[in-house]
Amino acid sequence: MLVNLADILEDAYQRNYAVGSFNGYNYETFAGIIKAGNETNTPVILAFGAKYLPNLSLETAYALAKSLGEKSETPVCLHLDHCSDLDTVFRAIRAGFGSVMYDGSALPFAENVKNTNLVCRIAHACGVSVEAELGCLAAGERSHEGSATDVAAYTEPAQAAQFVTATQVDALAVSIGTVHGLYKAEPNLRLDILAGINELVAVPLVLHGGSGLAVKDILGCIDHGIAKINVNTEISVYAVEKTRELLAVKQPHFSELSLSQVDYVKDIVKKYIAFFSRQ
Ligand code: 13P
Repeated sequence: MLVNLADILEDAYQRNYAVGSFNGYNYETFAGIIKAGNETNTPVILAFGAKYLPNLSLETAYALAKSLGEKSETPVCLHLDHCSDLDTVFRAIRAGFGSVMYDGSALPFAENVKNTNLVCRIAHACGVSVEAELGCLAAGERSHEGSATDVAAYTEPAQAAQFVTATQVDALAVSIGTVHGLYKAEPNLRLDILAGINELVAVPLVLHGGSGLAVKDILGCIDHGIAKINVNTEISVYAVEKTRELLAVKQPHFSELSLSQVDYVKDIVKKYIAFFSRQ
């Protein structure tokens, strides 16, 4: 079944686990992510980044998620990931997305508050959840979202509390030392900052940059209010590598290649689900 973000995050937030948010942009990724949720009996967030609009329109992404998600035994939330364009956010709400991330993190604080609040009013009136972001992640290697010029700016706890009260967001993405992409060195996560945010903010917190995080770091973050963790880069890196290995030994029919790729995505997503759900 398709659900909105607030529905699935509340349980995770209360019971100290995180729901995985996995990026999808074609049939193989959507099907693999949903299959991983079903095989582990776990809700999943199907994150469709505005970056992938050249791959699927919002309407096609919704149609695919609806068709696959309605047959799913476990809840699936179709979520618009990182979108700084208000018009695209509103079109995603109209298309049927259960959740949207308006990313005004590059804007001055007051403008981010104003735009995020507008998104919340419209989304909430339509039963759609909203995630927003404060602070900025740096970019690691092979990131498809960040750019090499991104400079890390940690989220400031008091400002986070002010932001959540003023905007009424359902979930807040924070910057505490993770990066978009693969880590060039051991990450230095600022759990002290996260604990400070969690003390002042009463909504589920979101960790971007999940690819390559150690289990101890993941669990430390969950202990301090993180209830949604995003993974993109490693799904792509793993599925492309497995495809390369397959093609090195045989020349499958295109249709068989697609089925194999669904399973590559499923396998890597299941690895992260096990970490996030403390299995
Ligand atoms: P990674 O690509 O580092 O896994 O980050 C994904 C992400 O944060 C998606 O919004």
